[in-house]
Amino acid sequence: MAAAGSAVGLGNVWRFPYITGKYGGAAFVLIYLAVVVVIGMSVMLAELAIGRKAKLDAVGSFRKLMGGAWPIVGWMGFFCGFVILSYYAVIAGWTMAYMFKSFGGLMGEAAAGKAGDVFGAFVSDPVLTVVYLCVVMAVVIGVVYRGISGGIEKSCKVLMPALFGILIILIIRSVTLPGATEGLRFYLLPDFSKVSGEGVLAAVGQGFFSLSLGMGIMITYGSYLGNHENMPHMTRIIVCLDTAVAIMAGLVIFPAVFAFGVDAGAGPGLTFVTLPIVFSKMPMGGFFSFAFFALLFIAAFTSAISLFEVVVTYSIDELHWSRAKSAIVMGLAITLLGVPSALSVGGHIPQIFGKDFLDAADFVTNNVVMPLGGMLIALFVGWFWTKGATDEVTNNGELNFKYYTAWLWICRVIAPLCIALIFINGLKW
Ligand code: PHE
Repeated sequence: MAAAGSAVGLGNVWRFPYITGKYGGAAFVLIYLAVVVVIGMSVMLAELAIGRKAKLDAVGSFRKLMGGAWPIVGWMGFFCGFVILSYYAVIAGWTMAYMFKSFGGLMGEAAAGKAGDVFGAFVSDPVLTVVYLCVVMAVVIGVVYRGISGGIEKSCKVLMPALFGILIILIIRSVTLPGATEGLRFYLLPDFSKVSGEGVLAAVGQGFFSLSLGMGIMITYGSYLGNHENMPHMTRIIVCLDTAVAIMAGLVIFPAVFAFGVDAGAGPGLTFVTLPIVFSKMPMGGFFSFAFFALLFIAAFTSAISLFEVVVTYSIDELHWSRAKSAIVMGLAITLLGVPSALSVGGHIPQIFGKDFLDAADFVTNNVVMPLGGMLIALFVGWFWTKGATDEVTNNGELNFKYYTAWLWICRVIAPLCIALIFINGLKW
Protein backbone atom coordinates (compact mmCIF):
# COMPACT_ATOMS: atom_id res chain seq x y z
CA MET A 1 0.00 0.00 0.00
CA ALA A 2 2.83 2.39 0.76
CA ALA A 3 4.35 1.71 -2.65
CA ALA A 4 0.98 2.36 -4.27
CA GLY A 5 0.77 5.54 -2.23
CA SER A 6 4.10 6.64 -3.63
CA ALA A 7 3.03 5.80 -7.16
CA VAL A 8 -0.41 7.41 -7.12
CA GLY A 9 -0.09 11.16 -6.97
CA LEU A 10 0.09 14.26 -9.09
CA GLY A 11 1.69 12.16 -11.81
CA ASN A 12 -1.66 10.51 -12.45
CA VAL A 13 -4.04 13.43 -12.16
CA TRP A 14 -1.92 16.43 -13.07
CA ARG A 15 0.90 15.19 -15.29
CA PHE A 16 -0.68 12.30 -17.20
CA PRO A 17 -3.55 14.32 -18.71
CA TYR A 18 -1.45 17.28 -19.73
CA ILE A 19 1.30 15.15 -21.29
CA THR A 20 -1.36 13.09 -23.08
CA GLY A 21 -2.89 16.31 -24.36
CA LYS A 22 0.47 17.61 -25.48
CA TYR A 23 1.40 14.46 -27.40
CA GLY A 24 -1.85 13.93 -29.21
CA GLY A 25 -4.21 11.79 -27.13
CA ALA A 26 -5.13 8.14 -27.69
CA ALA A 27 -2.00 7.04 -29.57
CA PHE A 28 0.09 8.36 -26.69
CA VAL A 29 -2.13 6.52 -24.21
CA LEU A 30 -1.57 3.21 -26.03
CA ILE A 31 2.18 3.70 -26.10
CA TYR A 32 2.08 4.61 -22.44
CA LEU A 33 0.21 1.41 -21.61
CA ALA A 34 2.74 -0.66 -23.55
CA VAL A 35 5.60 1.06 -21.73
CA VAL A 36 4.02 0.46 -18.35
CA VAL A 37 3.25 -3.22 -18.96
CA VAL A 38 6.56 -4.15 -20.56
CA ILE A 39 9.18 -1.84 -19.08
CA GLY A 40 7.50 -0.41 -15.98
CA MET A 41 6.35 -3.68 -14.51
CA SER A 42 9.73 -5.35 -15.14
CA VAL A 43 11.79 -2.56 -13.63
CA MET A 44 9.50 -2.39 -10.61
CA LEU A 45 9.94 -6.11 -9.95
CA ALA A 46 13.70 -5.72 -10.37
CA GLU A 47 13.78 -2.87 -7.86
CA LEU A 48 11.69 -4.71 -5.27
CA ALA A 49 13.93 -7.78 -5.61
CA ILE A 50 17.12 -5.76 -5.14
CA GLY A 51 15.72 -4.07 -2.06
CA ARG A 52 14.31 -7.17 -0.43
CA LYS A 53 17.58 -9.04 -0.84
CA ALA A 54 19.87 -6.26 0.38
CA LYS A 55 17.49 -4.81 3.01
CA LEU A 56 19.03 -1.39 2.44
CA ASP A 57 18.44 1.86 0.57
CA ALA A 58 19.48 2.06 -3.09
CA VAL A 59 23.09 3.19 -2.66
CA GLY A 60 23.67 0.63 0.09
CA SER A 61 21.88 -2.13 -1.82
CA PHE A 62 24.08 -1.79 -4.89
CA ARG A 63 27.17 -1.60 -2.74
CA LYS A 64 26.21 -4.73 -0.84
CA LEU A 65 25.09 -6.82 -3.81
CA MET A 66 27.77 -5.89 -6.32
CA GLY A 67 29.92 -2.90 -5.44
CA GLY A 68 32.02 -1.33 -8.19
CA ALA A 69 30.39 1.67 -9.84
CA TRP A 70 26.82 0.42 -9.23
CA PRO A 71 26.07 2.62 -6.21
CA ILE A 72 26.03 5.51 -8.71
CA VAL A 73 22.52 4.35 -9.65
CA GLY A 74 21.56 5.09 -6.07
CA TRP A 75 23.09 8.54 -6.26
CA MET A 76 21.13 9.23 -9.41
CA GLY A 77 18.07 8.47 -7.32
CA PHE A 78 19.17 10.95 -4.70
CA PHE A 79 19.46 13.59 -7.41
CA CYS A 80 15.98 12.79 -8.75
CA GLY A 81 14.40 12.85 -5.32
CA PHE A 82 15.91 16.23 -4.65
CA VAL A 83 14.98 17.83 -7.95
CA ILE A 84 11.54 16.26 -8.38
CA LEU A 85 10.43 17.18 -4.88
CA SER A 86 11.41 20.79 -5.48
CA TYR A 87 8.78 21.24 -8.17
CA TYR A 88 6.42 18.54 -6.95
CA ALA A 89 5.90 20.59 -3.81
CA VAL A 90 5.01 23.58 -5.99
CA ILE A 91 2.20 21.67 -7.70
CA ALA A 92 1.11 20.16 -4.38
CA GLY A 93 0.87 23.78 -3.22
CA TRP A 94 -1.45 24.60 -6.12
CA THR A 95 -3.61 21.66 -5.06
CA MET A 96 -3.79 22.95 -1.52
CA ALA A 97 -4.68 26.44 -2.76
CA TYR A 98 -7.47 25.02 -4.93
CA MET A 99 -8.82 23.14 -1.94
CA PHE A 100 -9.43 26.46 -0.20
CA LYS A 101 -10.55 28.21 -3.35
CA SER A 102 -13.37 25.64 -3.70
CA PHE A 103 -15.34 27.52 -1.08
CA GLY A 104 -14.35 30.94 -2.36
CA GLY A 105 -15.41 32.36 -5.68
CA LEU A 106 -13.97 29.49 -7.74
CA MET A 107 -17.29 27.85 -8.64
CA GLY A 108 -18.86 31.14 -9.72
CA GLU A 109 -15.85 32.18 -11.78
CA ALA A 110 -15.53 28.76 -13.40
CA ALA A 111 -19.23 28.84 -14.29
CA ALA A 112 -18.66 32.25 -15.88
CA GLY A 113 -15.93 30.78 -18.10
CA LYS A 114 -13.08 32.35 -16.15
CA ALA A 115 -11.30 29.21 -14.82
CA GLY A 116 -8.29 29.97 -17.02
CA ASP A 117 -8.05 33.51 -15.66
CA VAL A 118 -8.27 32.27 -12.07
CA PHE A 119 -5.42 29.86 -12.71
CA GLY A 120 -3.37 32.47 -14.53
CA ALA A 121 -3.79 34.99 -11.74
CA PHE A 122 -2.91 32.43 -9.10
CA VAL A 123 0.31 31.17 -10.70
CA SER A 124 1.46 34.70 -11.47
CA ASP A 125 1.20 35.67 -7.81
CA PRO A 126 4.83 35.29 -6.73
CA VAL A 127 4.13 35.58 -3.02
CA LEU A 128 1.22 33.16 -2.83
CA THR A 129 2.85 30.40 -4.88
CA VAL A 130 6.05 30.57 -2.84
CA VAL A 131 4.12 30.63 0.44
CA TYR A 132 2.20 27.50 -0.57
CA LEU A 133 5.47 25.83 -1.55
CA CYS A 134 6.88 26.63 1.90
CA VAL A 135 3.78 25.35 3.68
CA VAL A 136 3.88 22.05 1.79
CA MET A 137 7.60 21.62 2.44
CA ALA A 138 7.17 22.46 6.12
CA VAL A 139 4.63 19.66 6.51
CA VAL A 140 6.78 17.20 4.53
CA ILE A 141 9.85 18.09 6.61
CA GLY A 142 7.85 17.85 9.83
CA VAL A 143 6.61 14.34 9.10
CA VAL A 144 9.96 12.98 7.94
CA TYR A 145 11.85 14.76 10.74
CA ARG A 146 9.71 13.07 13.36
CA GLY A 147 10.04 9.75 11.53
CA ILE A 148 6.26 9.27 11.42
CA SER A 149 6.02 8.31 7.77
CA GLY A 150 4.75 4.94 9.04
CA GLY A 151 1.24 6.36 9.12
CA ILE A 152 1.38 6.79 5.36
CA GLU A 153 0.46 3.22 4.62
CA LYS A 154 -2.62 3.42 6.82
CA SER A 155 -3.80 6.63 5.22
CA CYS A 156 -3.49 4.98 1.80
CA LYS A 157 -6.08 2.40 2.75
CA VAL A 158 -8.64 5.17 3.09
CA LEU A 159 -7.29 7.39 0.34
CA MET A 160 -7.37 4.90 -2.52
CA PRO A 161 -11.04 3.87 -2.28
CA ALA A 162 -12.07 7.50 -1.72
CA LEU A 163 -10.09 8.64 -4.74
CA PHE A 164 -11.63 5.91 -6.90
CA GLY A 165 -15.10 6.84 -5.69
CA ILE A 166 -14.80 10.51 -6.47
CA LEU A 167 -13.15 9.83 -9.84
CA ILE A 168 -16.08 7.63 -10.83
CA ILE A 169 -18.56 10.38 -9.94
CA LEU A 170 -16.50 12.86 -11.96
CA ILE A 171 -16.27 10.55 -14.97
CA ILE A 172 -20.05 10.20 -15.02
CA ARG A 173 -20.43 13.98 -14.94
CA SER A 174 -17.78 14.58 -17.54
CA VAL A 175 -18.86 12.05 -20.18
CA THR A 176 -22.47 13.23 -20.00
CA LEU A 177 -21.56 16.84 -20.77
CA PRO A 178 -22.83 18.08 -24.12
CA GLY A 179 -19.92 17.86 -26.56
CA ALA A 180 -18.08 15.21 -24.54
CA THR A 181 -17.86 12.74 -27.44
CA GLU A 182 -15.17 14.73 -29.18
CA GLY A 183 -13.00 14.42 -26.09
CA LEU A 184 -13.59 10.69 -25.81
CA ARG A 185 -12.60 10.34 -29.44
CA PHE A 186 -9.36 12.28 -28.82
CA TYR A 187 -8.59 10.17 -25.76
CA LEU A 188 -9.64 6.74 -27.00
CA LEU A 189 -9.33 6.60 -30.80
CA PRO A 190 -5.63 6.51 -31.69
CA ASP A 191 -4.24 8.50 -34.57
CA PHE A 192 -0.75 7.17 -35.04
CA SER A 193 0.25 9.93 -37.40
CA LYS A 194 0.63 12.08 -34.29
CA VAL A 195 3.34 9.84 -32.79
CA SER A 196 6.88 11.19 -32.67
CA GLY A 197 10.12 9.95 -31.14
CA GLU A 198 9.77 12.74 -28.64
CA GLY A 199 6.29 11.52 -27.73
CA VAL A 200 7.53 7.98 -27.15
CA LEU A 201 10.27 9.28 -24.86
CA ALA A 202 7.63 11.30 -23.04
CA ALA A 203 5.61 8.10 -22.55
CA VAL A 204 8.64 6.37 -21.06
CA GLY A 205 9.32 9.36 -18.81
CA GLN A 206 5.71 9.45 -17.69
CA GLY A 207 5.79 5.71 -16.97
CA PHE A 208 8.84 6.05 -14.75
CA PHE A 209 7.50 9.14 -13.02
CA SER A 210 4.05 7.75 -12.39
CA LEU A 211 5.32 4.43 -11.04
CA SER A 212 8.09 6.10 -8.98
CA LEU A 213 10.70 4.03 -10.82
CA GLY A 214 14.33 4.32 -11.77
CA MET A 215 15.38 6.18 -8.65
CA GLY A 216 15.51 3.53 -5.96
CA ILE A 217 12.24 4.23 -4.17
CA MET A 218 10.97 0.74 -4.87
CA ILE A 219 14.34 -0.61 -3.71
CA THR A 220 13.79 1.09 -0.38
CA TYR A 221 10.21 -0.19 -0.11
CA GLY A 222 11.32 -3.67 -1.17
CA SER A 223 13.72 -3.71 1.76
CA TYR A 224 10.73 -3.76 4.13
CA LEU A 225 9.08 -6.78 2.45
CA GLY A 226 8.95 -10.18 4.12
CA ASN A 227 10.66 -13.10 2.37
CA HIS A 228 7.43 -14.93 1.66
CA GLU A 229 5.61 -12.11 -0.09
CA ASN A 230 4.75 -12.72 -3.72
CA MET A 231 6.53 -9.84 -5.45
CA PRO A 232 5.36 -10.44 -9.02
CA HIS A 233 1.77 -10.33 -7.77
CA MET A 234 2.45 -7.20 -5.75
CA THR A 235 3.97 -5.51 -8.77
CA ARG A 236 0.85 -6.23 -10.79
CA ILE A 237 -1.37 -4.70 -8.12
CA ILE A 238 0.67 -1.51 -7.82
CA VAL A 239 0.89 -1.06 -11.58
CA CYS A 240 -2.84 -1.71 -12.07
CA LEU A 241 -3.87 0.72 -9.34
CA ASP A 242 -1.60 3.44 -10.61
CA THR A 243 -2.59 3.00 -14.23
CA ALA A 244 -6.28 2.85 -13.37
CA VAL A 245 -6.10 6.20 -11.59
CA ALA A 246 -4.29 7.80 -14.53
CA ILE A 247 -6.72 6.43 -17.12
CA MET A 248 -9.67 7.55 -15.00
CA ALA A 249 -8.23 11.04 -14.62
CA GLY A 250 -8.03 11.24 -18.41
CA LEU A 251 -11.66 10.16 -18.67
CA VAL A 252 -12.59 13.10 -16.48
CA ILE A 253 -10.37 15.67 -18.14
CA PHE A 254 -10.67 15.09 -21.89
CA PRO A 255 -14.45 15.02 -22.34
CA ALA A 256 -14.54 18.25 -20.34
CA VAL A 257 -11.62 19.79 -22.24
CA PHE A 258 -13.52 19.40 -25.51
CA ALA A 259 -16.93 20.21 -24.09
CA PHE A 260 -15.65 23.54 -22.72
CA GLY A 261 -13.24 24.39 -25.51
CA VAL A 262 -10.09 24.28 -23.35
CA ASP A 263 -6.87 23.70 -25.34
CA ALA A 264 -5.83 20.04 -24.81
CA GLY A 265 -2.18 21.05 -25.16
CA ALA A 266 -2.49 23.79 -22.53
CA GLY A 267 0.38 22.36 -20.47
CA PRO A 268 0.76 22.12 -16.68
CA GLY A 269 -2.42 24.12 -16.03
CA LEU A 270 -4.73 21.70 -17.85
CA THR A 271 -6.14 19.88 -14.82
CA PHE A 272 -6.44 23.04 -12.77
CA VAL A 273 -8.31 24.87 -15.51
CA THR A 274 -10.60 22.04 -16.56
CA LEU A 275 -11.71 20.49 -13.28
CA PRO A 276 -13.23 23.61 -11.69
CA ILE A 277 -15.49 23.97 -14.74
CA VAL A 278 -16.64 20.37 -14.30
CA PHE A 279 -17.35 21.00 -10.62
CA SER A 280 -19.25 24.15 -11.40
CA LYS A 281 -21.64 22.06 -13.51
CA MET A 282 -22.43 19.72 -10.62
CA PRO A 283 -24.83 20.01 -7.71
CA MET A 284 -22.76 20.70 -4.56
CA GLY A 285 -19.84 21.57 -6.85
CA GLY A 286 -17.97 23.44 -4.12
CA PHE A 287 -18.12 20.42 -1.87
CA PHE A 288 -16.94 18.01 -4.57
CA SER A 289 -14.19 20.40 -5.56
CA PHE A 290 -12.96 20.61 -2.00
CA ALA A 291 -13.16 16.85 -1.50
CA PHE A 292 -11.32 16.17 -4.75
CA PHE A 293 -8.48 18.60 -4.23
CA ALA A 294 -8.13 17.44 -0.62
CA LEU A 295 -7.79 13.83 -1.79
CA LEU A 296 -5.38 14.84 -4.51
CA PHE A 297 -3.37 16.73 -1.95
CA ILE A 298 -3.14 13.66 0.29
CA ALA A 299 -2.14 11.54 -2.72
CA ALA A 300 0.54 14.10 -3.58
CA PHE A 301 1.64 14.19 0.02
CA THR A 302 2.26 10.42 0.23
CA SER A 303 4.35 10.70 -2.94
CA ALA A 304 6.24 13.72 -1.63
CA ILE A 305 7.12 11.84 1.54
CA SER A 306 8.57 8.98 -0.50
CA LEU A 307 10.65 11.44 -2.52
CA PHE A 308 11.94 13.12 0.59
CA GLU A 309 12.65 9.82 2.34
CA VAL A 310 15.09 8.91 -0.45
CA VAL A 311 16.99 12.13 0.06
CA VAL A 312 16.98 11.89 3.85
CA THR A 313 17.89 8.19 4.01
CA TYR A 314 20.91 8.80 1.80
CA SER A 315 22.17 11.68 3.86
CA ILE A 316 21.74 9.61 7.02
CA ASP A 317 23.44 6.51 5.59
CA GLU A 318 26.02 8.06 3.31
CA LEU A 319 26.86 11.43 4.86
CA HIS A 320 26.30 10.14 8.41
CA TRP A 321 24.03 13.05 9.32
CA SER A 322 21.40 12.70 12.01
CA ARG A 323 17.79 12.36 10.91
CA ALA A 324 16.98 15.84 12.22
CA LYS A 325 19.89 17.48 10.43
CA SER A 326 19.16 15.63 7.18
CA ALA A 327 15.50 16.58 7.21
CA ILE A 328 16.12 20.22 7.96
CA VAL A 329 19.16 20.91 5.79
CA MET A 330 17.94 18.93 2.80
CA GLY A 331 14.41 20.21 3.25
CA LEU A 332 15.53 23.83 3.20
CA ALA A 333 17.75 23.24 0.18
CA ILE A 334 14.87 21.61 -1.70
CA THR A 335 12.54 24.47 -0.79
CA LEU A 336 15.08 26.95 -2.15
CA LEU A 337 15.37 25.04 -5.39
CA GLY A 338 11.57 25.05 -5.58
CA VAL A 339 11.36 28.83 -5.57
CA PRO A 340 12.45 29.33 -9.20
CA SER A 341 10.00 26.59 -10.23
CA ALA A 342 7.19 28.31 -8.38
CA LEU A 343 8.03 31.64 -10.00
CA SER A 344 8.65 30.26 -13.49
CA VAL A 345 5.05 29.34 -14.35
CA GLY A 346 3.95 32.93 -13.90
CA GLY A 347 6.85 34.08 -16.07
CA HIS A 348 8.71 35.85 -13.25
CA ILE A 349 12.10 34.40 -14.11
CA PRO A 350 13.78 33.94 -17.49
CA GLN A 351 13.43 30.64 -19.29
CA ILE A 352 16.29 28.19 -19.63
CA PHE A 353 16.83 27.78 -23.38
CA GLY A 354 13.14 28.15 -24.02
CA LYS A 355 11.83 26.04 -21.14
CA ASP A 356 10.32 27.24 -17.86
CA PHE A 357 12.48 26.30 -14.88
CA LEU A 358 9.78 23.88 -13.72
CA ASP A 359 9.64 22.19 -17.13
CA ALA A 360 13.41 22.01 -17.26
CA ALA A 361 13.64 20.31 -13.85
CA ASP A 362 10.86 17.94 -14.88
CA PHE A 363 12.53 17.17 -18.22
CA VAL A 364 15.95 16.36 -16.81
CA THR A 365 14.59 14.00 -14.17
CA ASN A 366 11.74 12.31 -16.04
CA ASN A 367 13.08 12.13 -19.55
CA VAL A 368 16.75 11.62 -18.81
CA VAL A 369 17.86 10.45 -15.37
CA MET A 370 14.96 8.15 -14.43
CA PRO A 371 14.89 6.19 -17.72
CA LEU A 372 18.67 5.91 -17.48
CA GLY A 373 18.36 4.65 -13.90
CA GLY A 374 15.72 2.16 -15.00
CA MET A 375 17.95 0.94 -17.81
CA LEU A 376 20.86 0.37 -15.42
CA ILE A 377 18.62 -1.43 -12.93
CA ALA A 378 17.33 -3.71 -15.70
CA LEU A 379 20.87 -4.45 -16.88
CA PHE A 380 21.93 -5.09 -13.29
CA VAL A 381 19.40 -7.86 -12.68
CA GLY A 382 19.55 -9.14 -16.26
CA TRP A 383 23.28 -9.65 -16.58
CA PHE A 384 25.14 -9.00 -13.33
CA TRP A 385 23.06 -10.17 -10.41
CA THR A 386 20.96 -12.71 -12.32
CA LYS A 387 21.16 -15.70 -10.01
CA GLY A 388 20.35 -13.59 -6.97
CA ALA A 389 17.46 -11.88 -8.76
CA THR A 390 16.08 -15.22 -9.92
CA ASP A 391 16.08 -16.61 -6.39
CA GLU A 392 14.52 -13.42 -5.11
CA VAL A 393 11.59 -13.11 -7.52
CA THR A 394 10.71 -16.79 -7.17
CA ASN A 395 11.19 -16.88 -3.38
CA ASN A 396 14.06 -19.36 -3.84
CA GLY A 397 12.11 -21.48 -6.26
CA GLU A 398 9.01 -21.79 -4.06
CA LEU A 399 6.93 -19.54 -6.25
CA ASN A 400 5.80 -20.36 -9.74
CA PHE A 401 6.40 -17.06 -11.55
CA LYS A 402 4.89 -17.76 -14.97
CA TYR A 403 6.45 -14.82 -16.74
CA TYR A 404 9.96 -15.33 -15.39
CA THR A 405 11.58 -15.91 -18.78
CA ALA A 406 9.79 -12.95 -20.31
CA TRP A 407 10.79 -10.77 -17.39
CA LEU A 408 14.43 -11.84 -17.62
CA TRP A 409 14.69 -11.05 -21.33
CA ILE A 410 12.89 -7.78 -20.93
CA CYS A 411 15.50 -6.81 -18.35
CA ARG A 412 18.37 -8.18 -20.39
CA VAL A 413 17.56 -6.86 -23.84
CA ILE A 414 14.16 -5.37 -24.49
CA ALA A 415 14.01 -2.65 -21.83
CA PRO A 416 17.62 -1.41 -22.20
CA LEU A 417 17.41 -1.50 -25.98
CA CYS A 418 14.06 0.31 -26.12
CA ILE A 419 15.24 2.98 -23.71
CA ALA A 420 18.49 3.45 -25.65
CA LEU A 421 16.67 3.71 -28.99
CA ILE A 422 14.12 6.09 -27.59
CA PHE A 423 16.89 8.26 -26.18
CA ILE A 424 18.61 8.41 -29.53
CA ASN A 425 15.43 9.28 -31.41
CA GLY A 426 13.53 11.32 -28.91
CA LEU A 427 15.92 13.32 -26.77
CA LYS A 428 15.20 16.88 -27.73
CA TRP A 429 15.30 19.75 -25.26
N1 PHE B 1 4.80 8.64 -8.72
C1 PHE B 1 4.48 9.90 -8.16
C2 PHE B 1 3.25 10.48 -8.85
O1 PHE B 1 2.76 9.92 -9.79
C3 PHE B 1 5.61 10.88 -8.22
C4 PHE B 1 6.90 10.32 -7.79
C5 PHE B 1 7.93 10.19 -8.69
C6 PHE B 1 7.06 9.87 -6.49
C7 PHE B 1 9.11 9.62 -8.33
C8 PHE B 1 8.24 9.31 -6.12
C9 PHE B 1 9.26 9.18 -7.05
O2 PHE B 1 2.78 11.50 -8.50
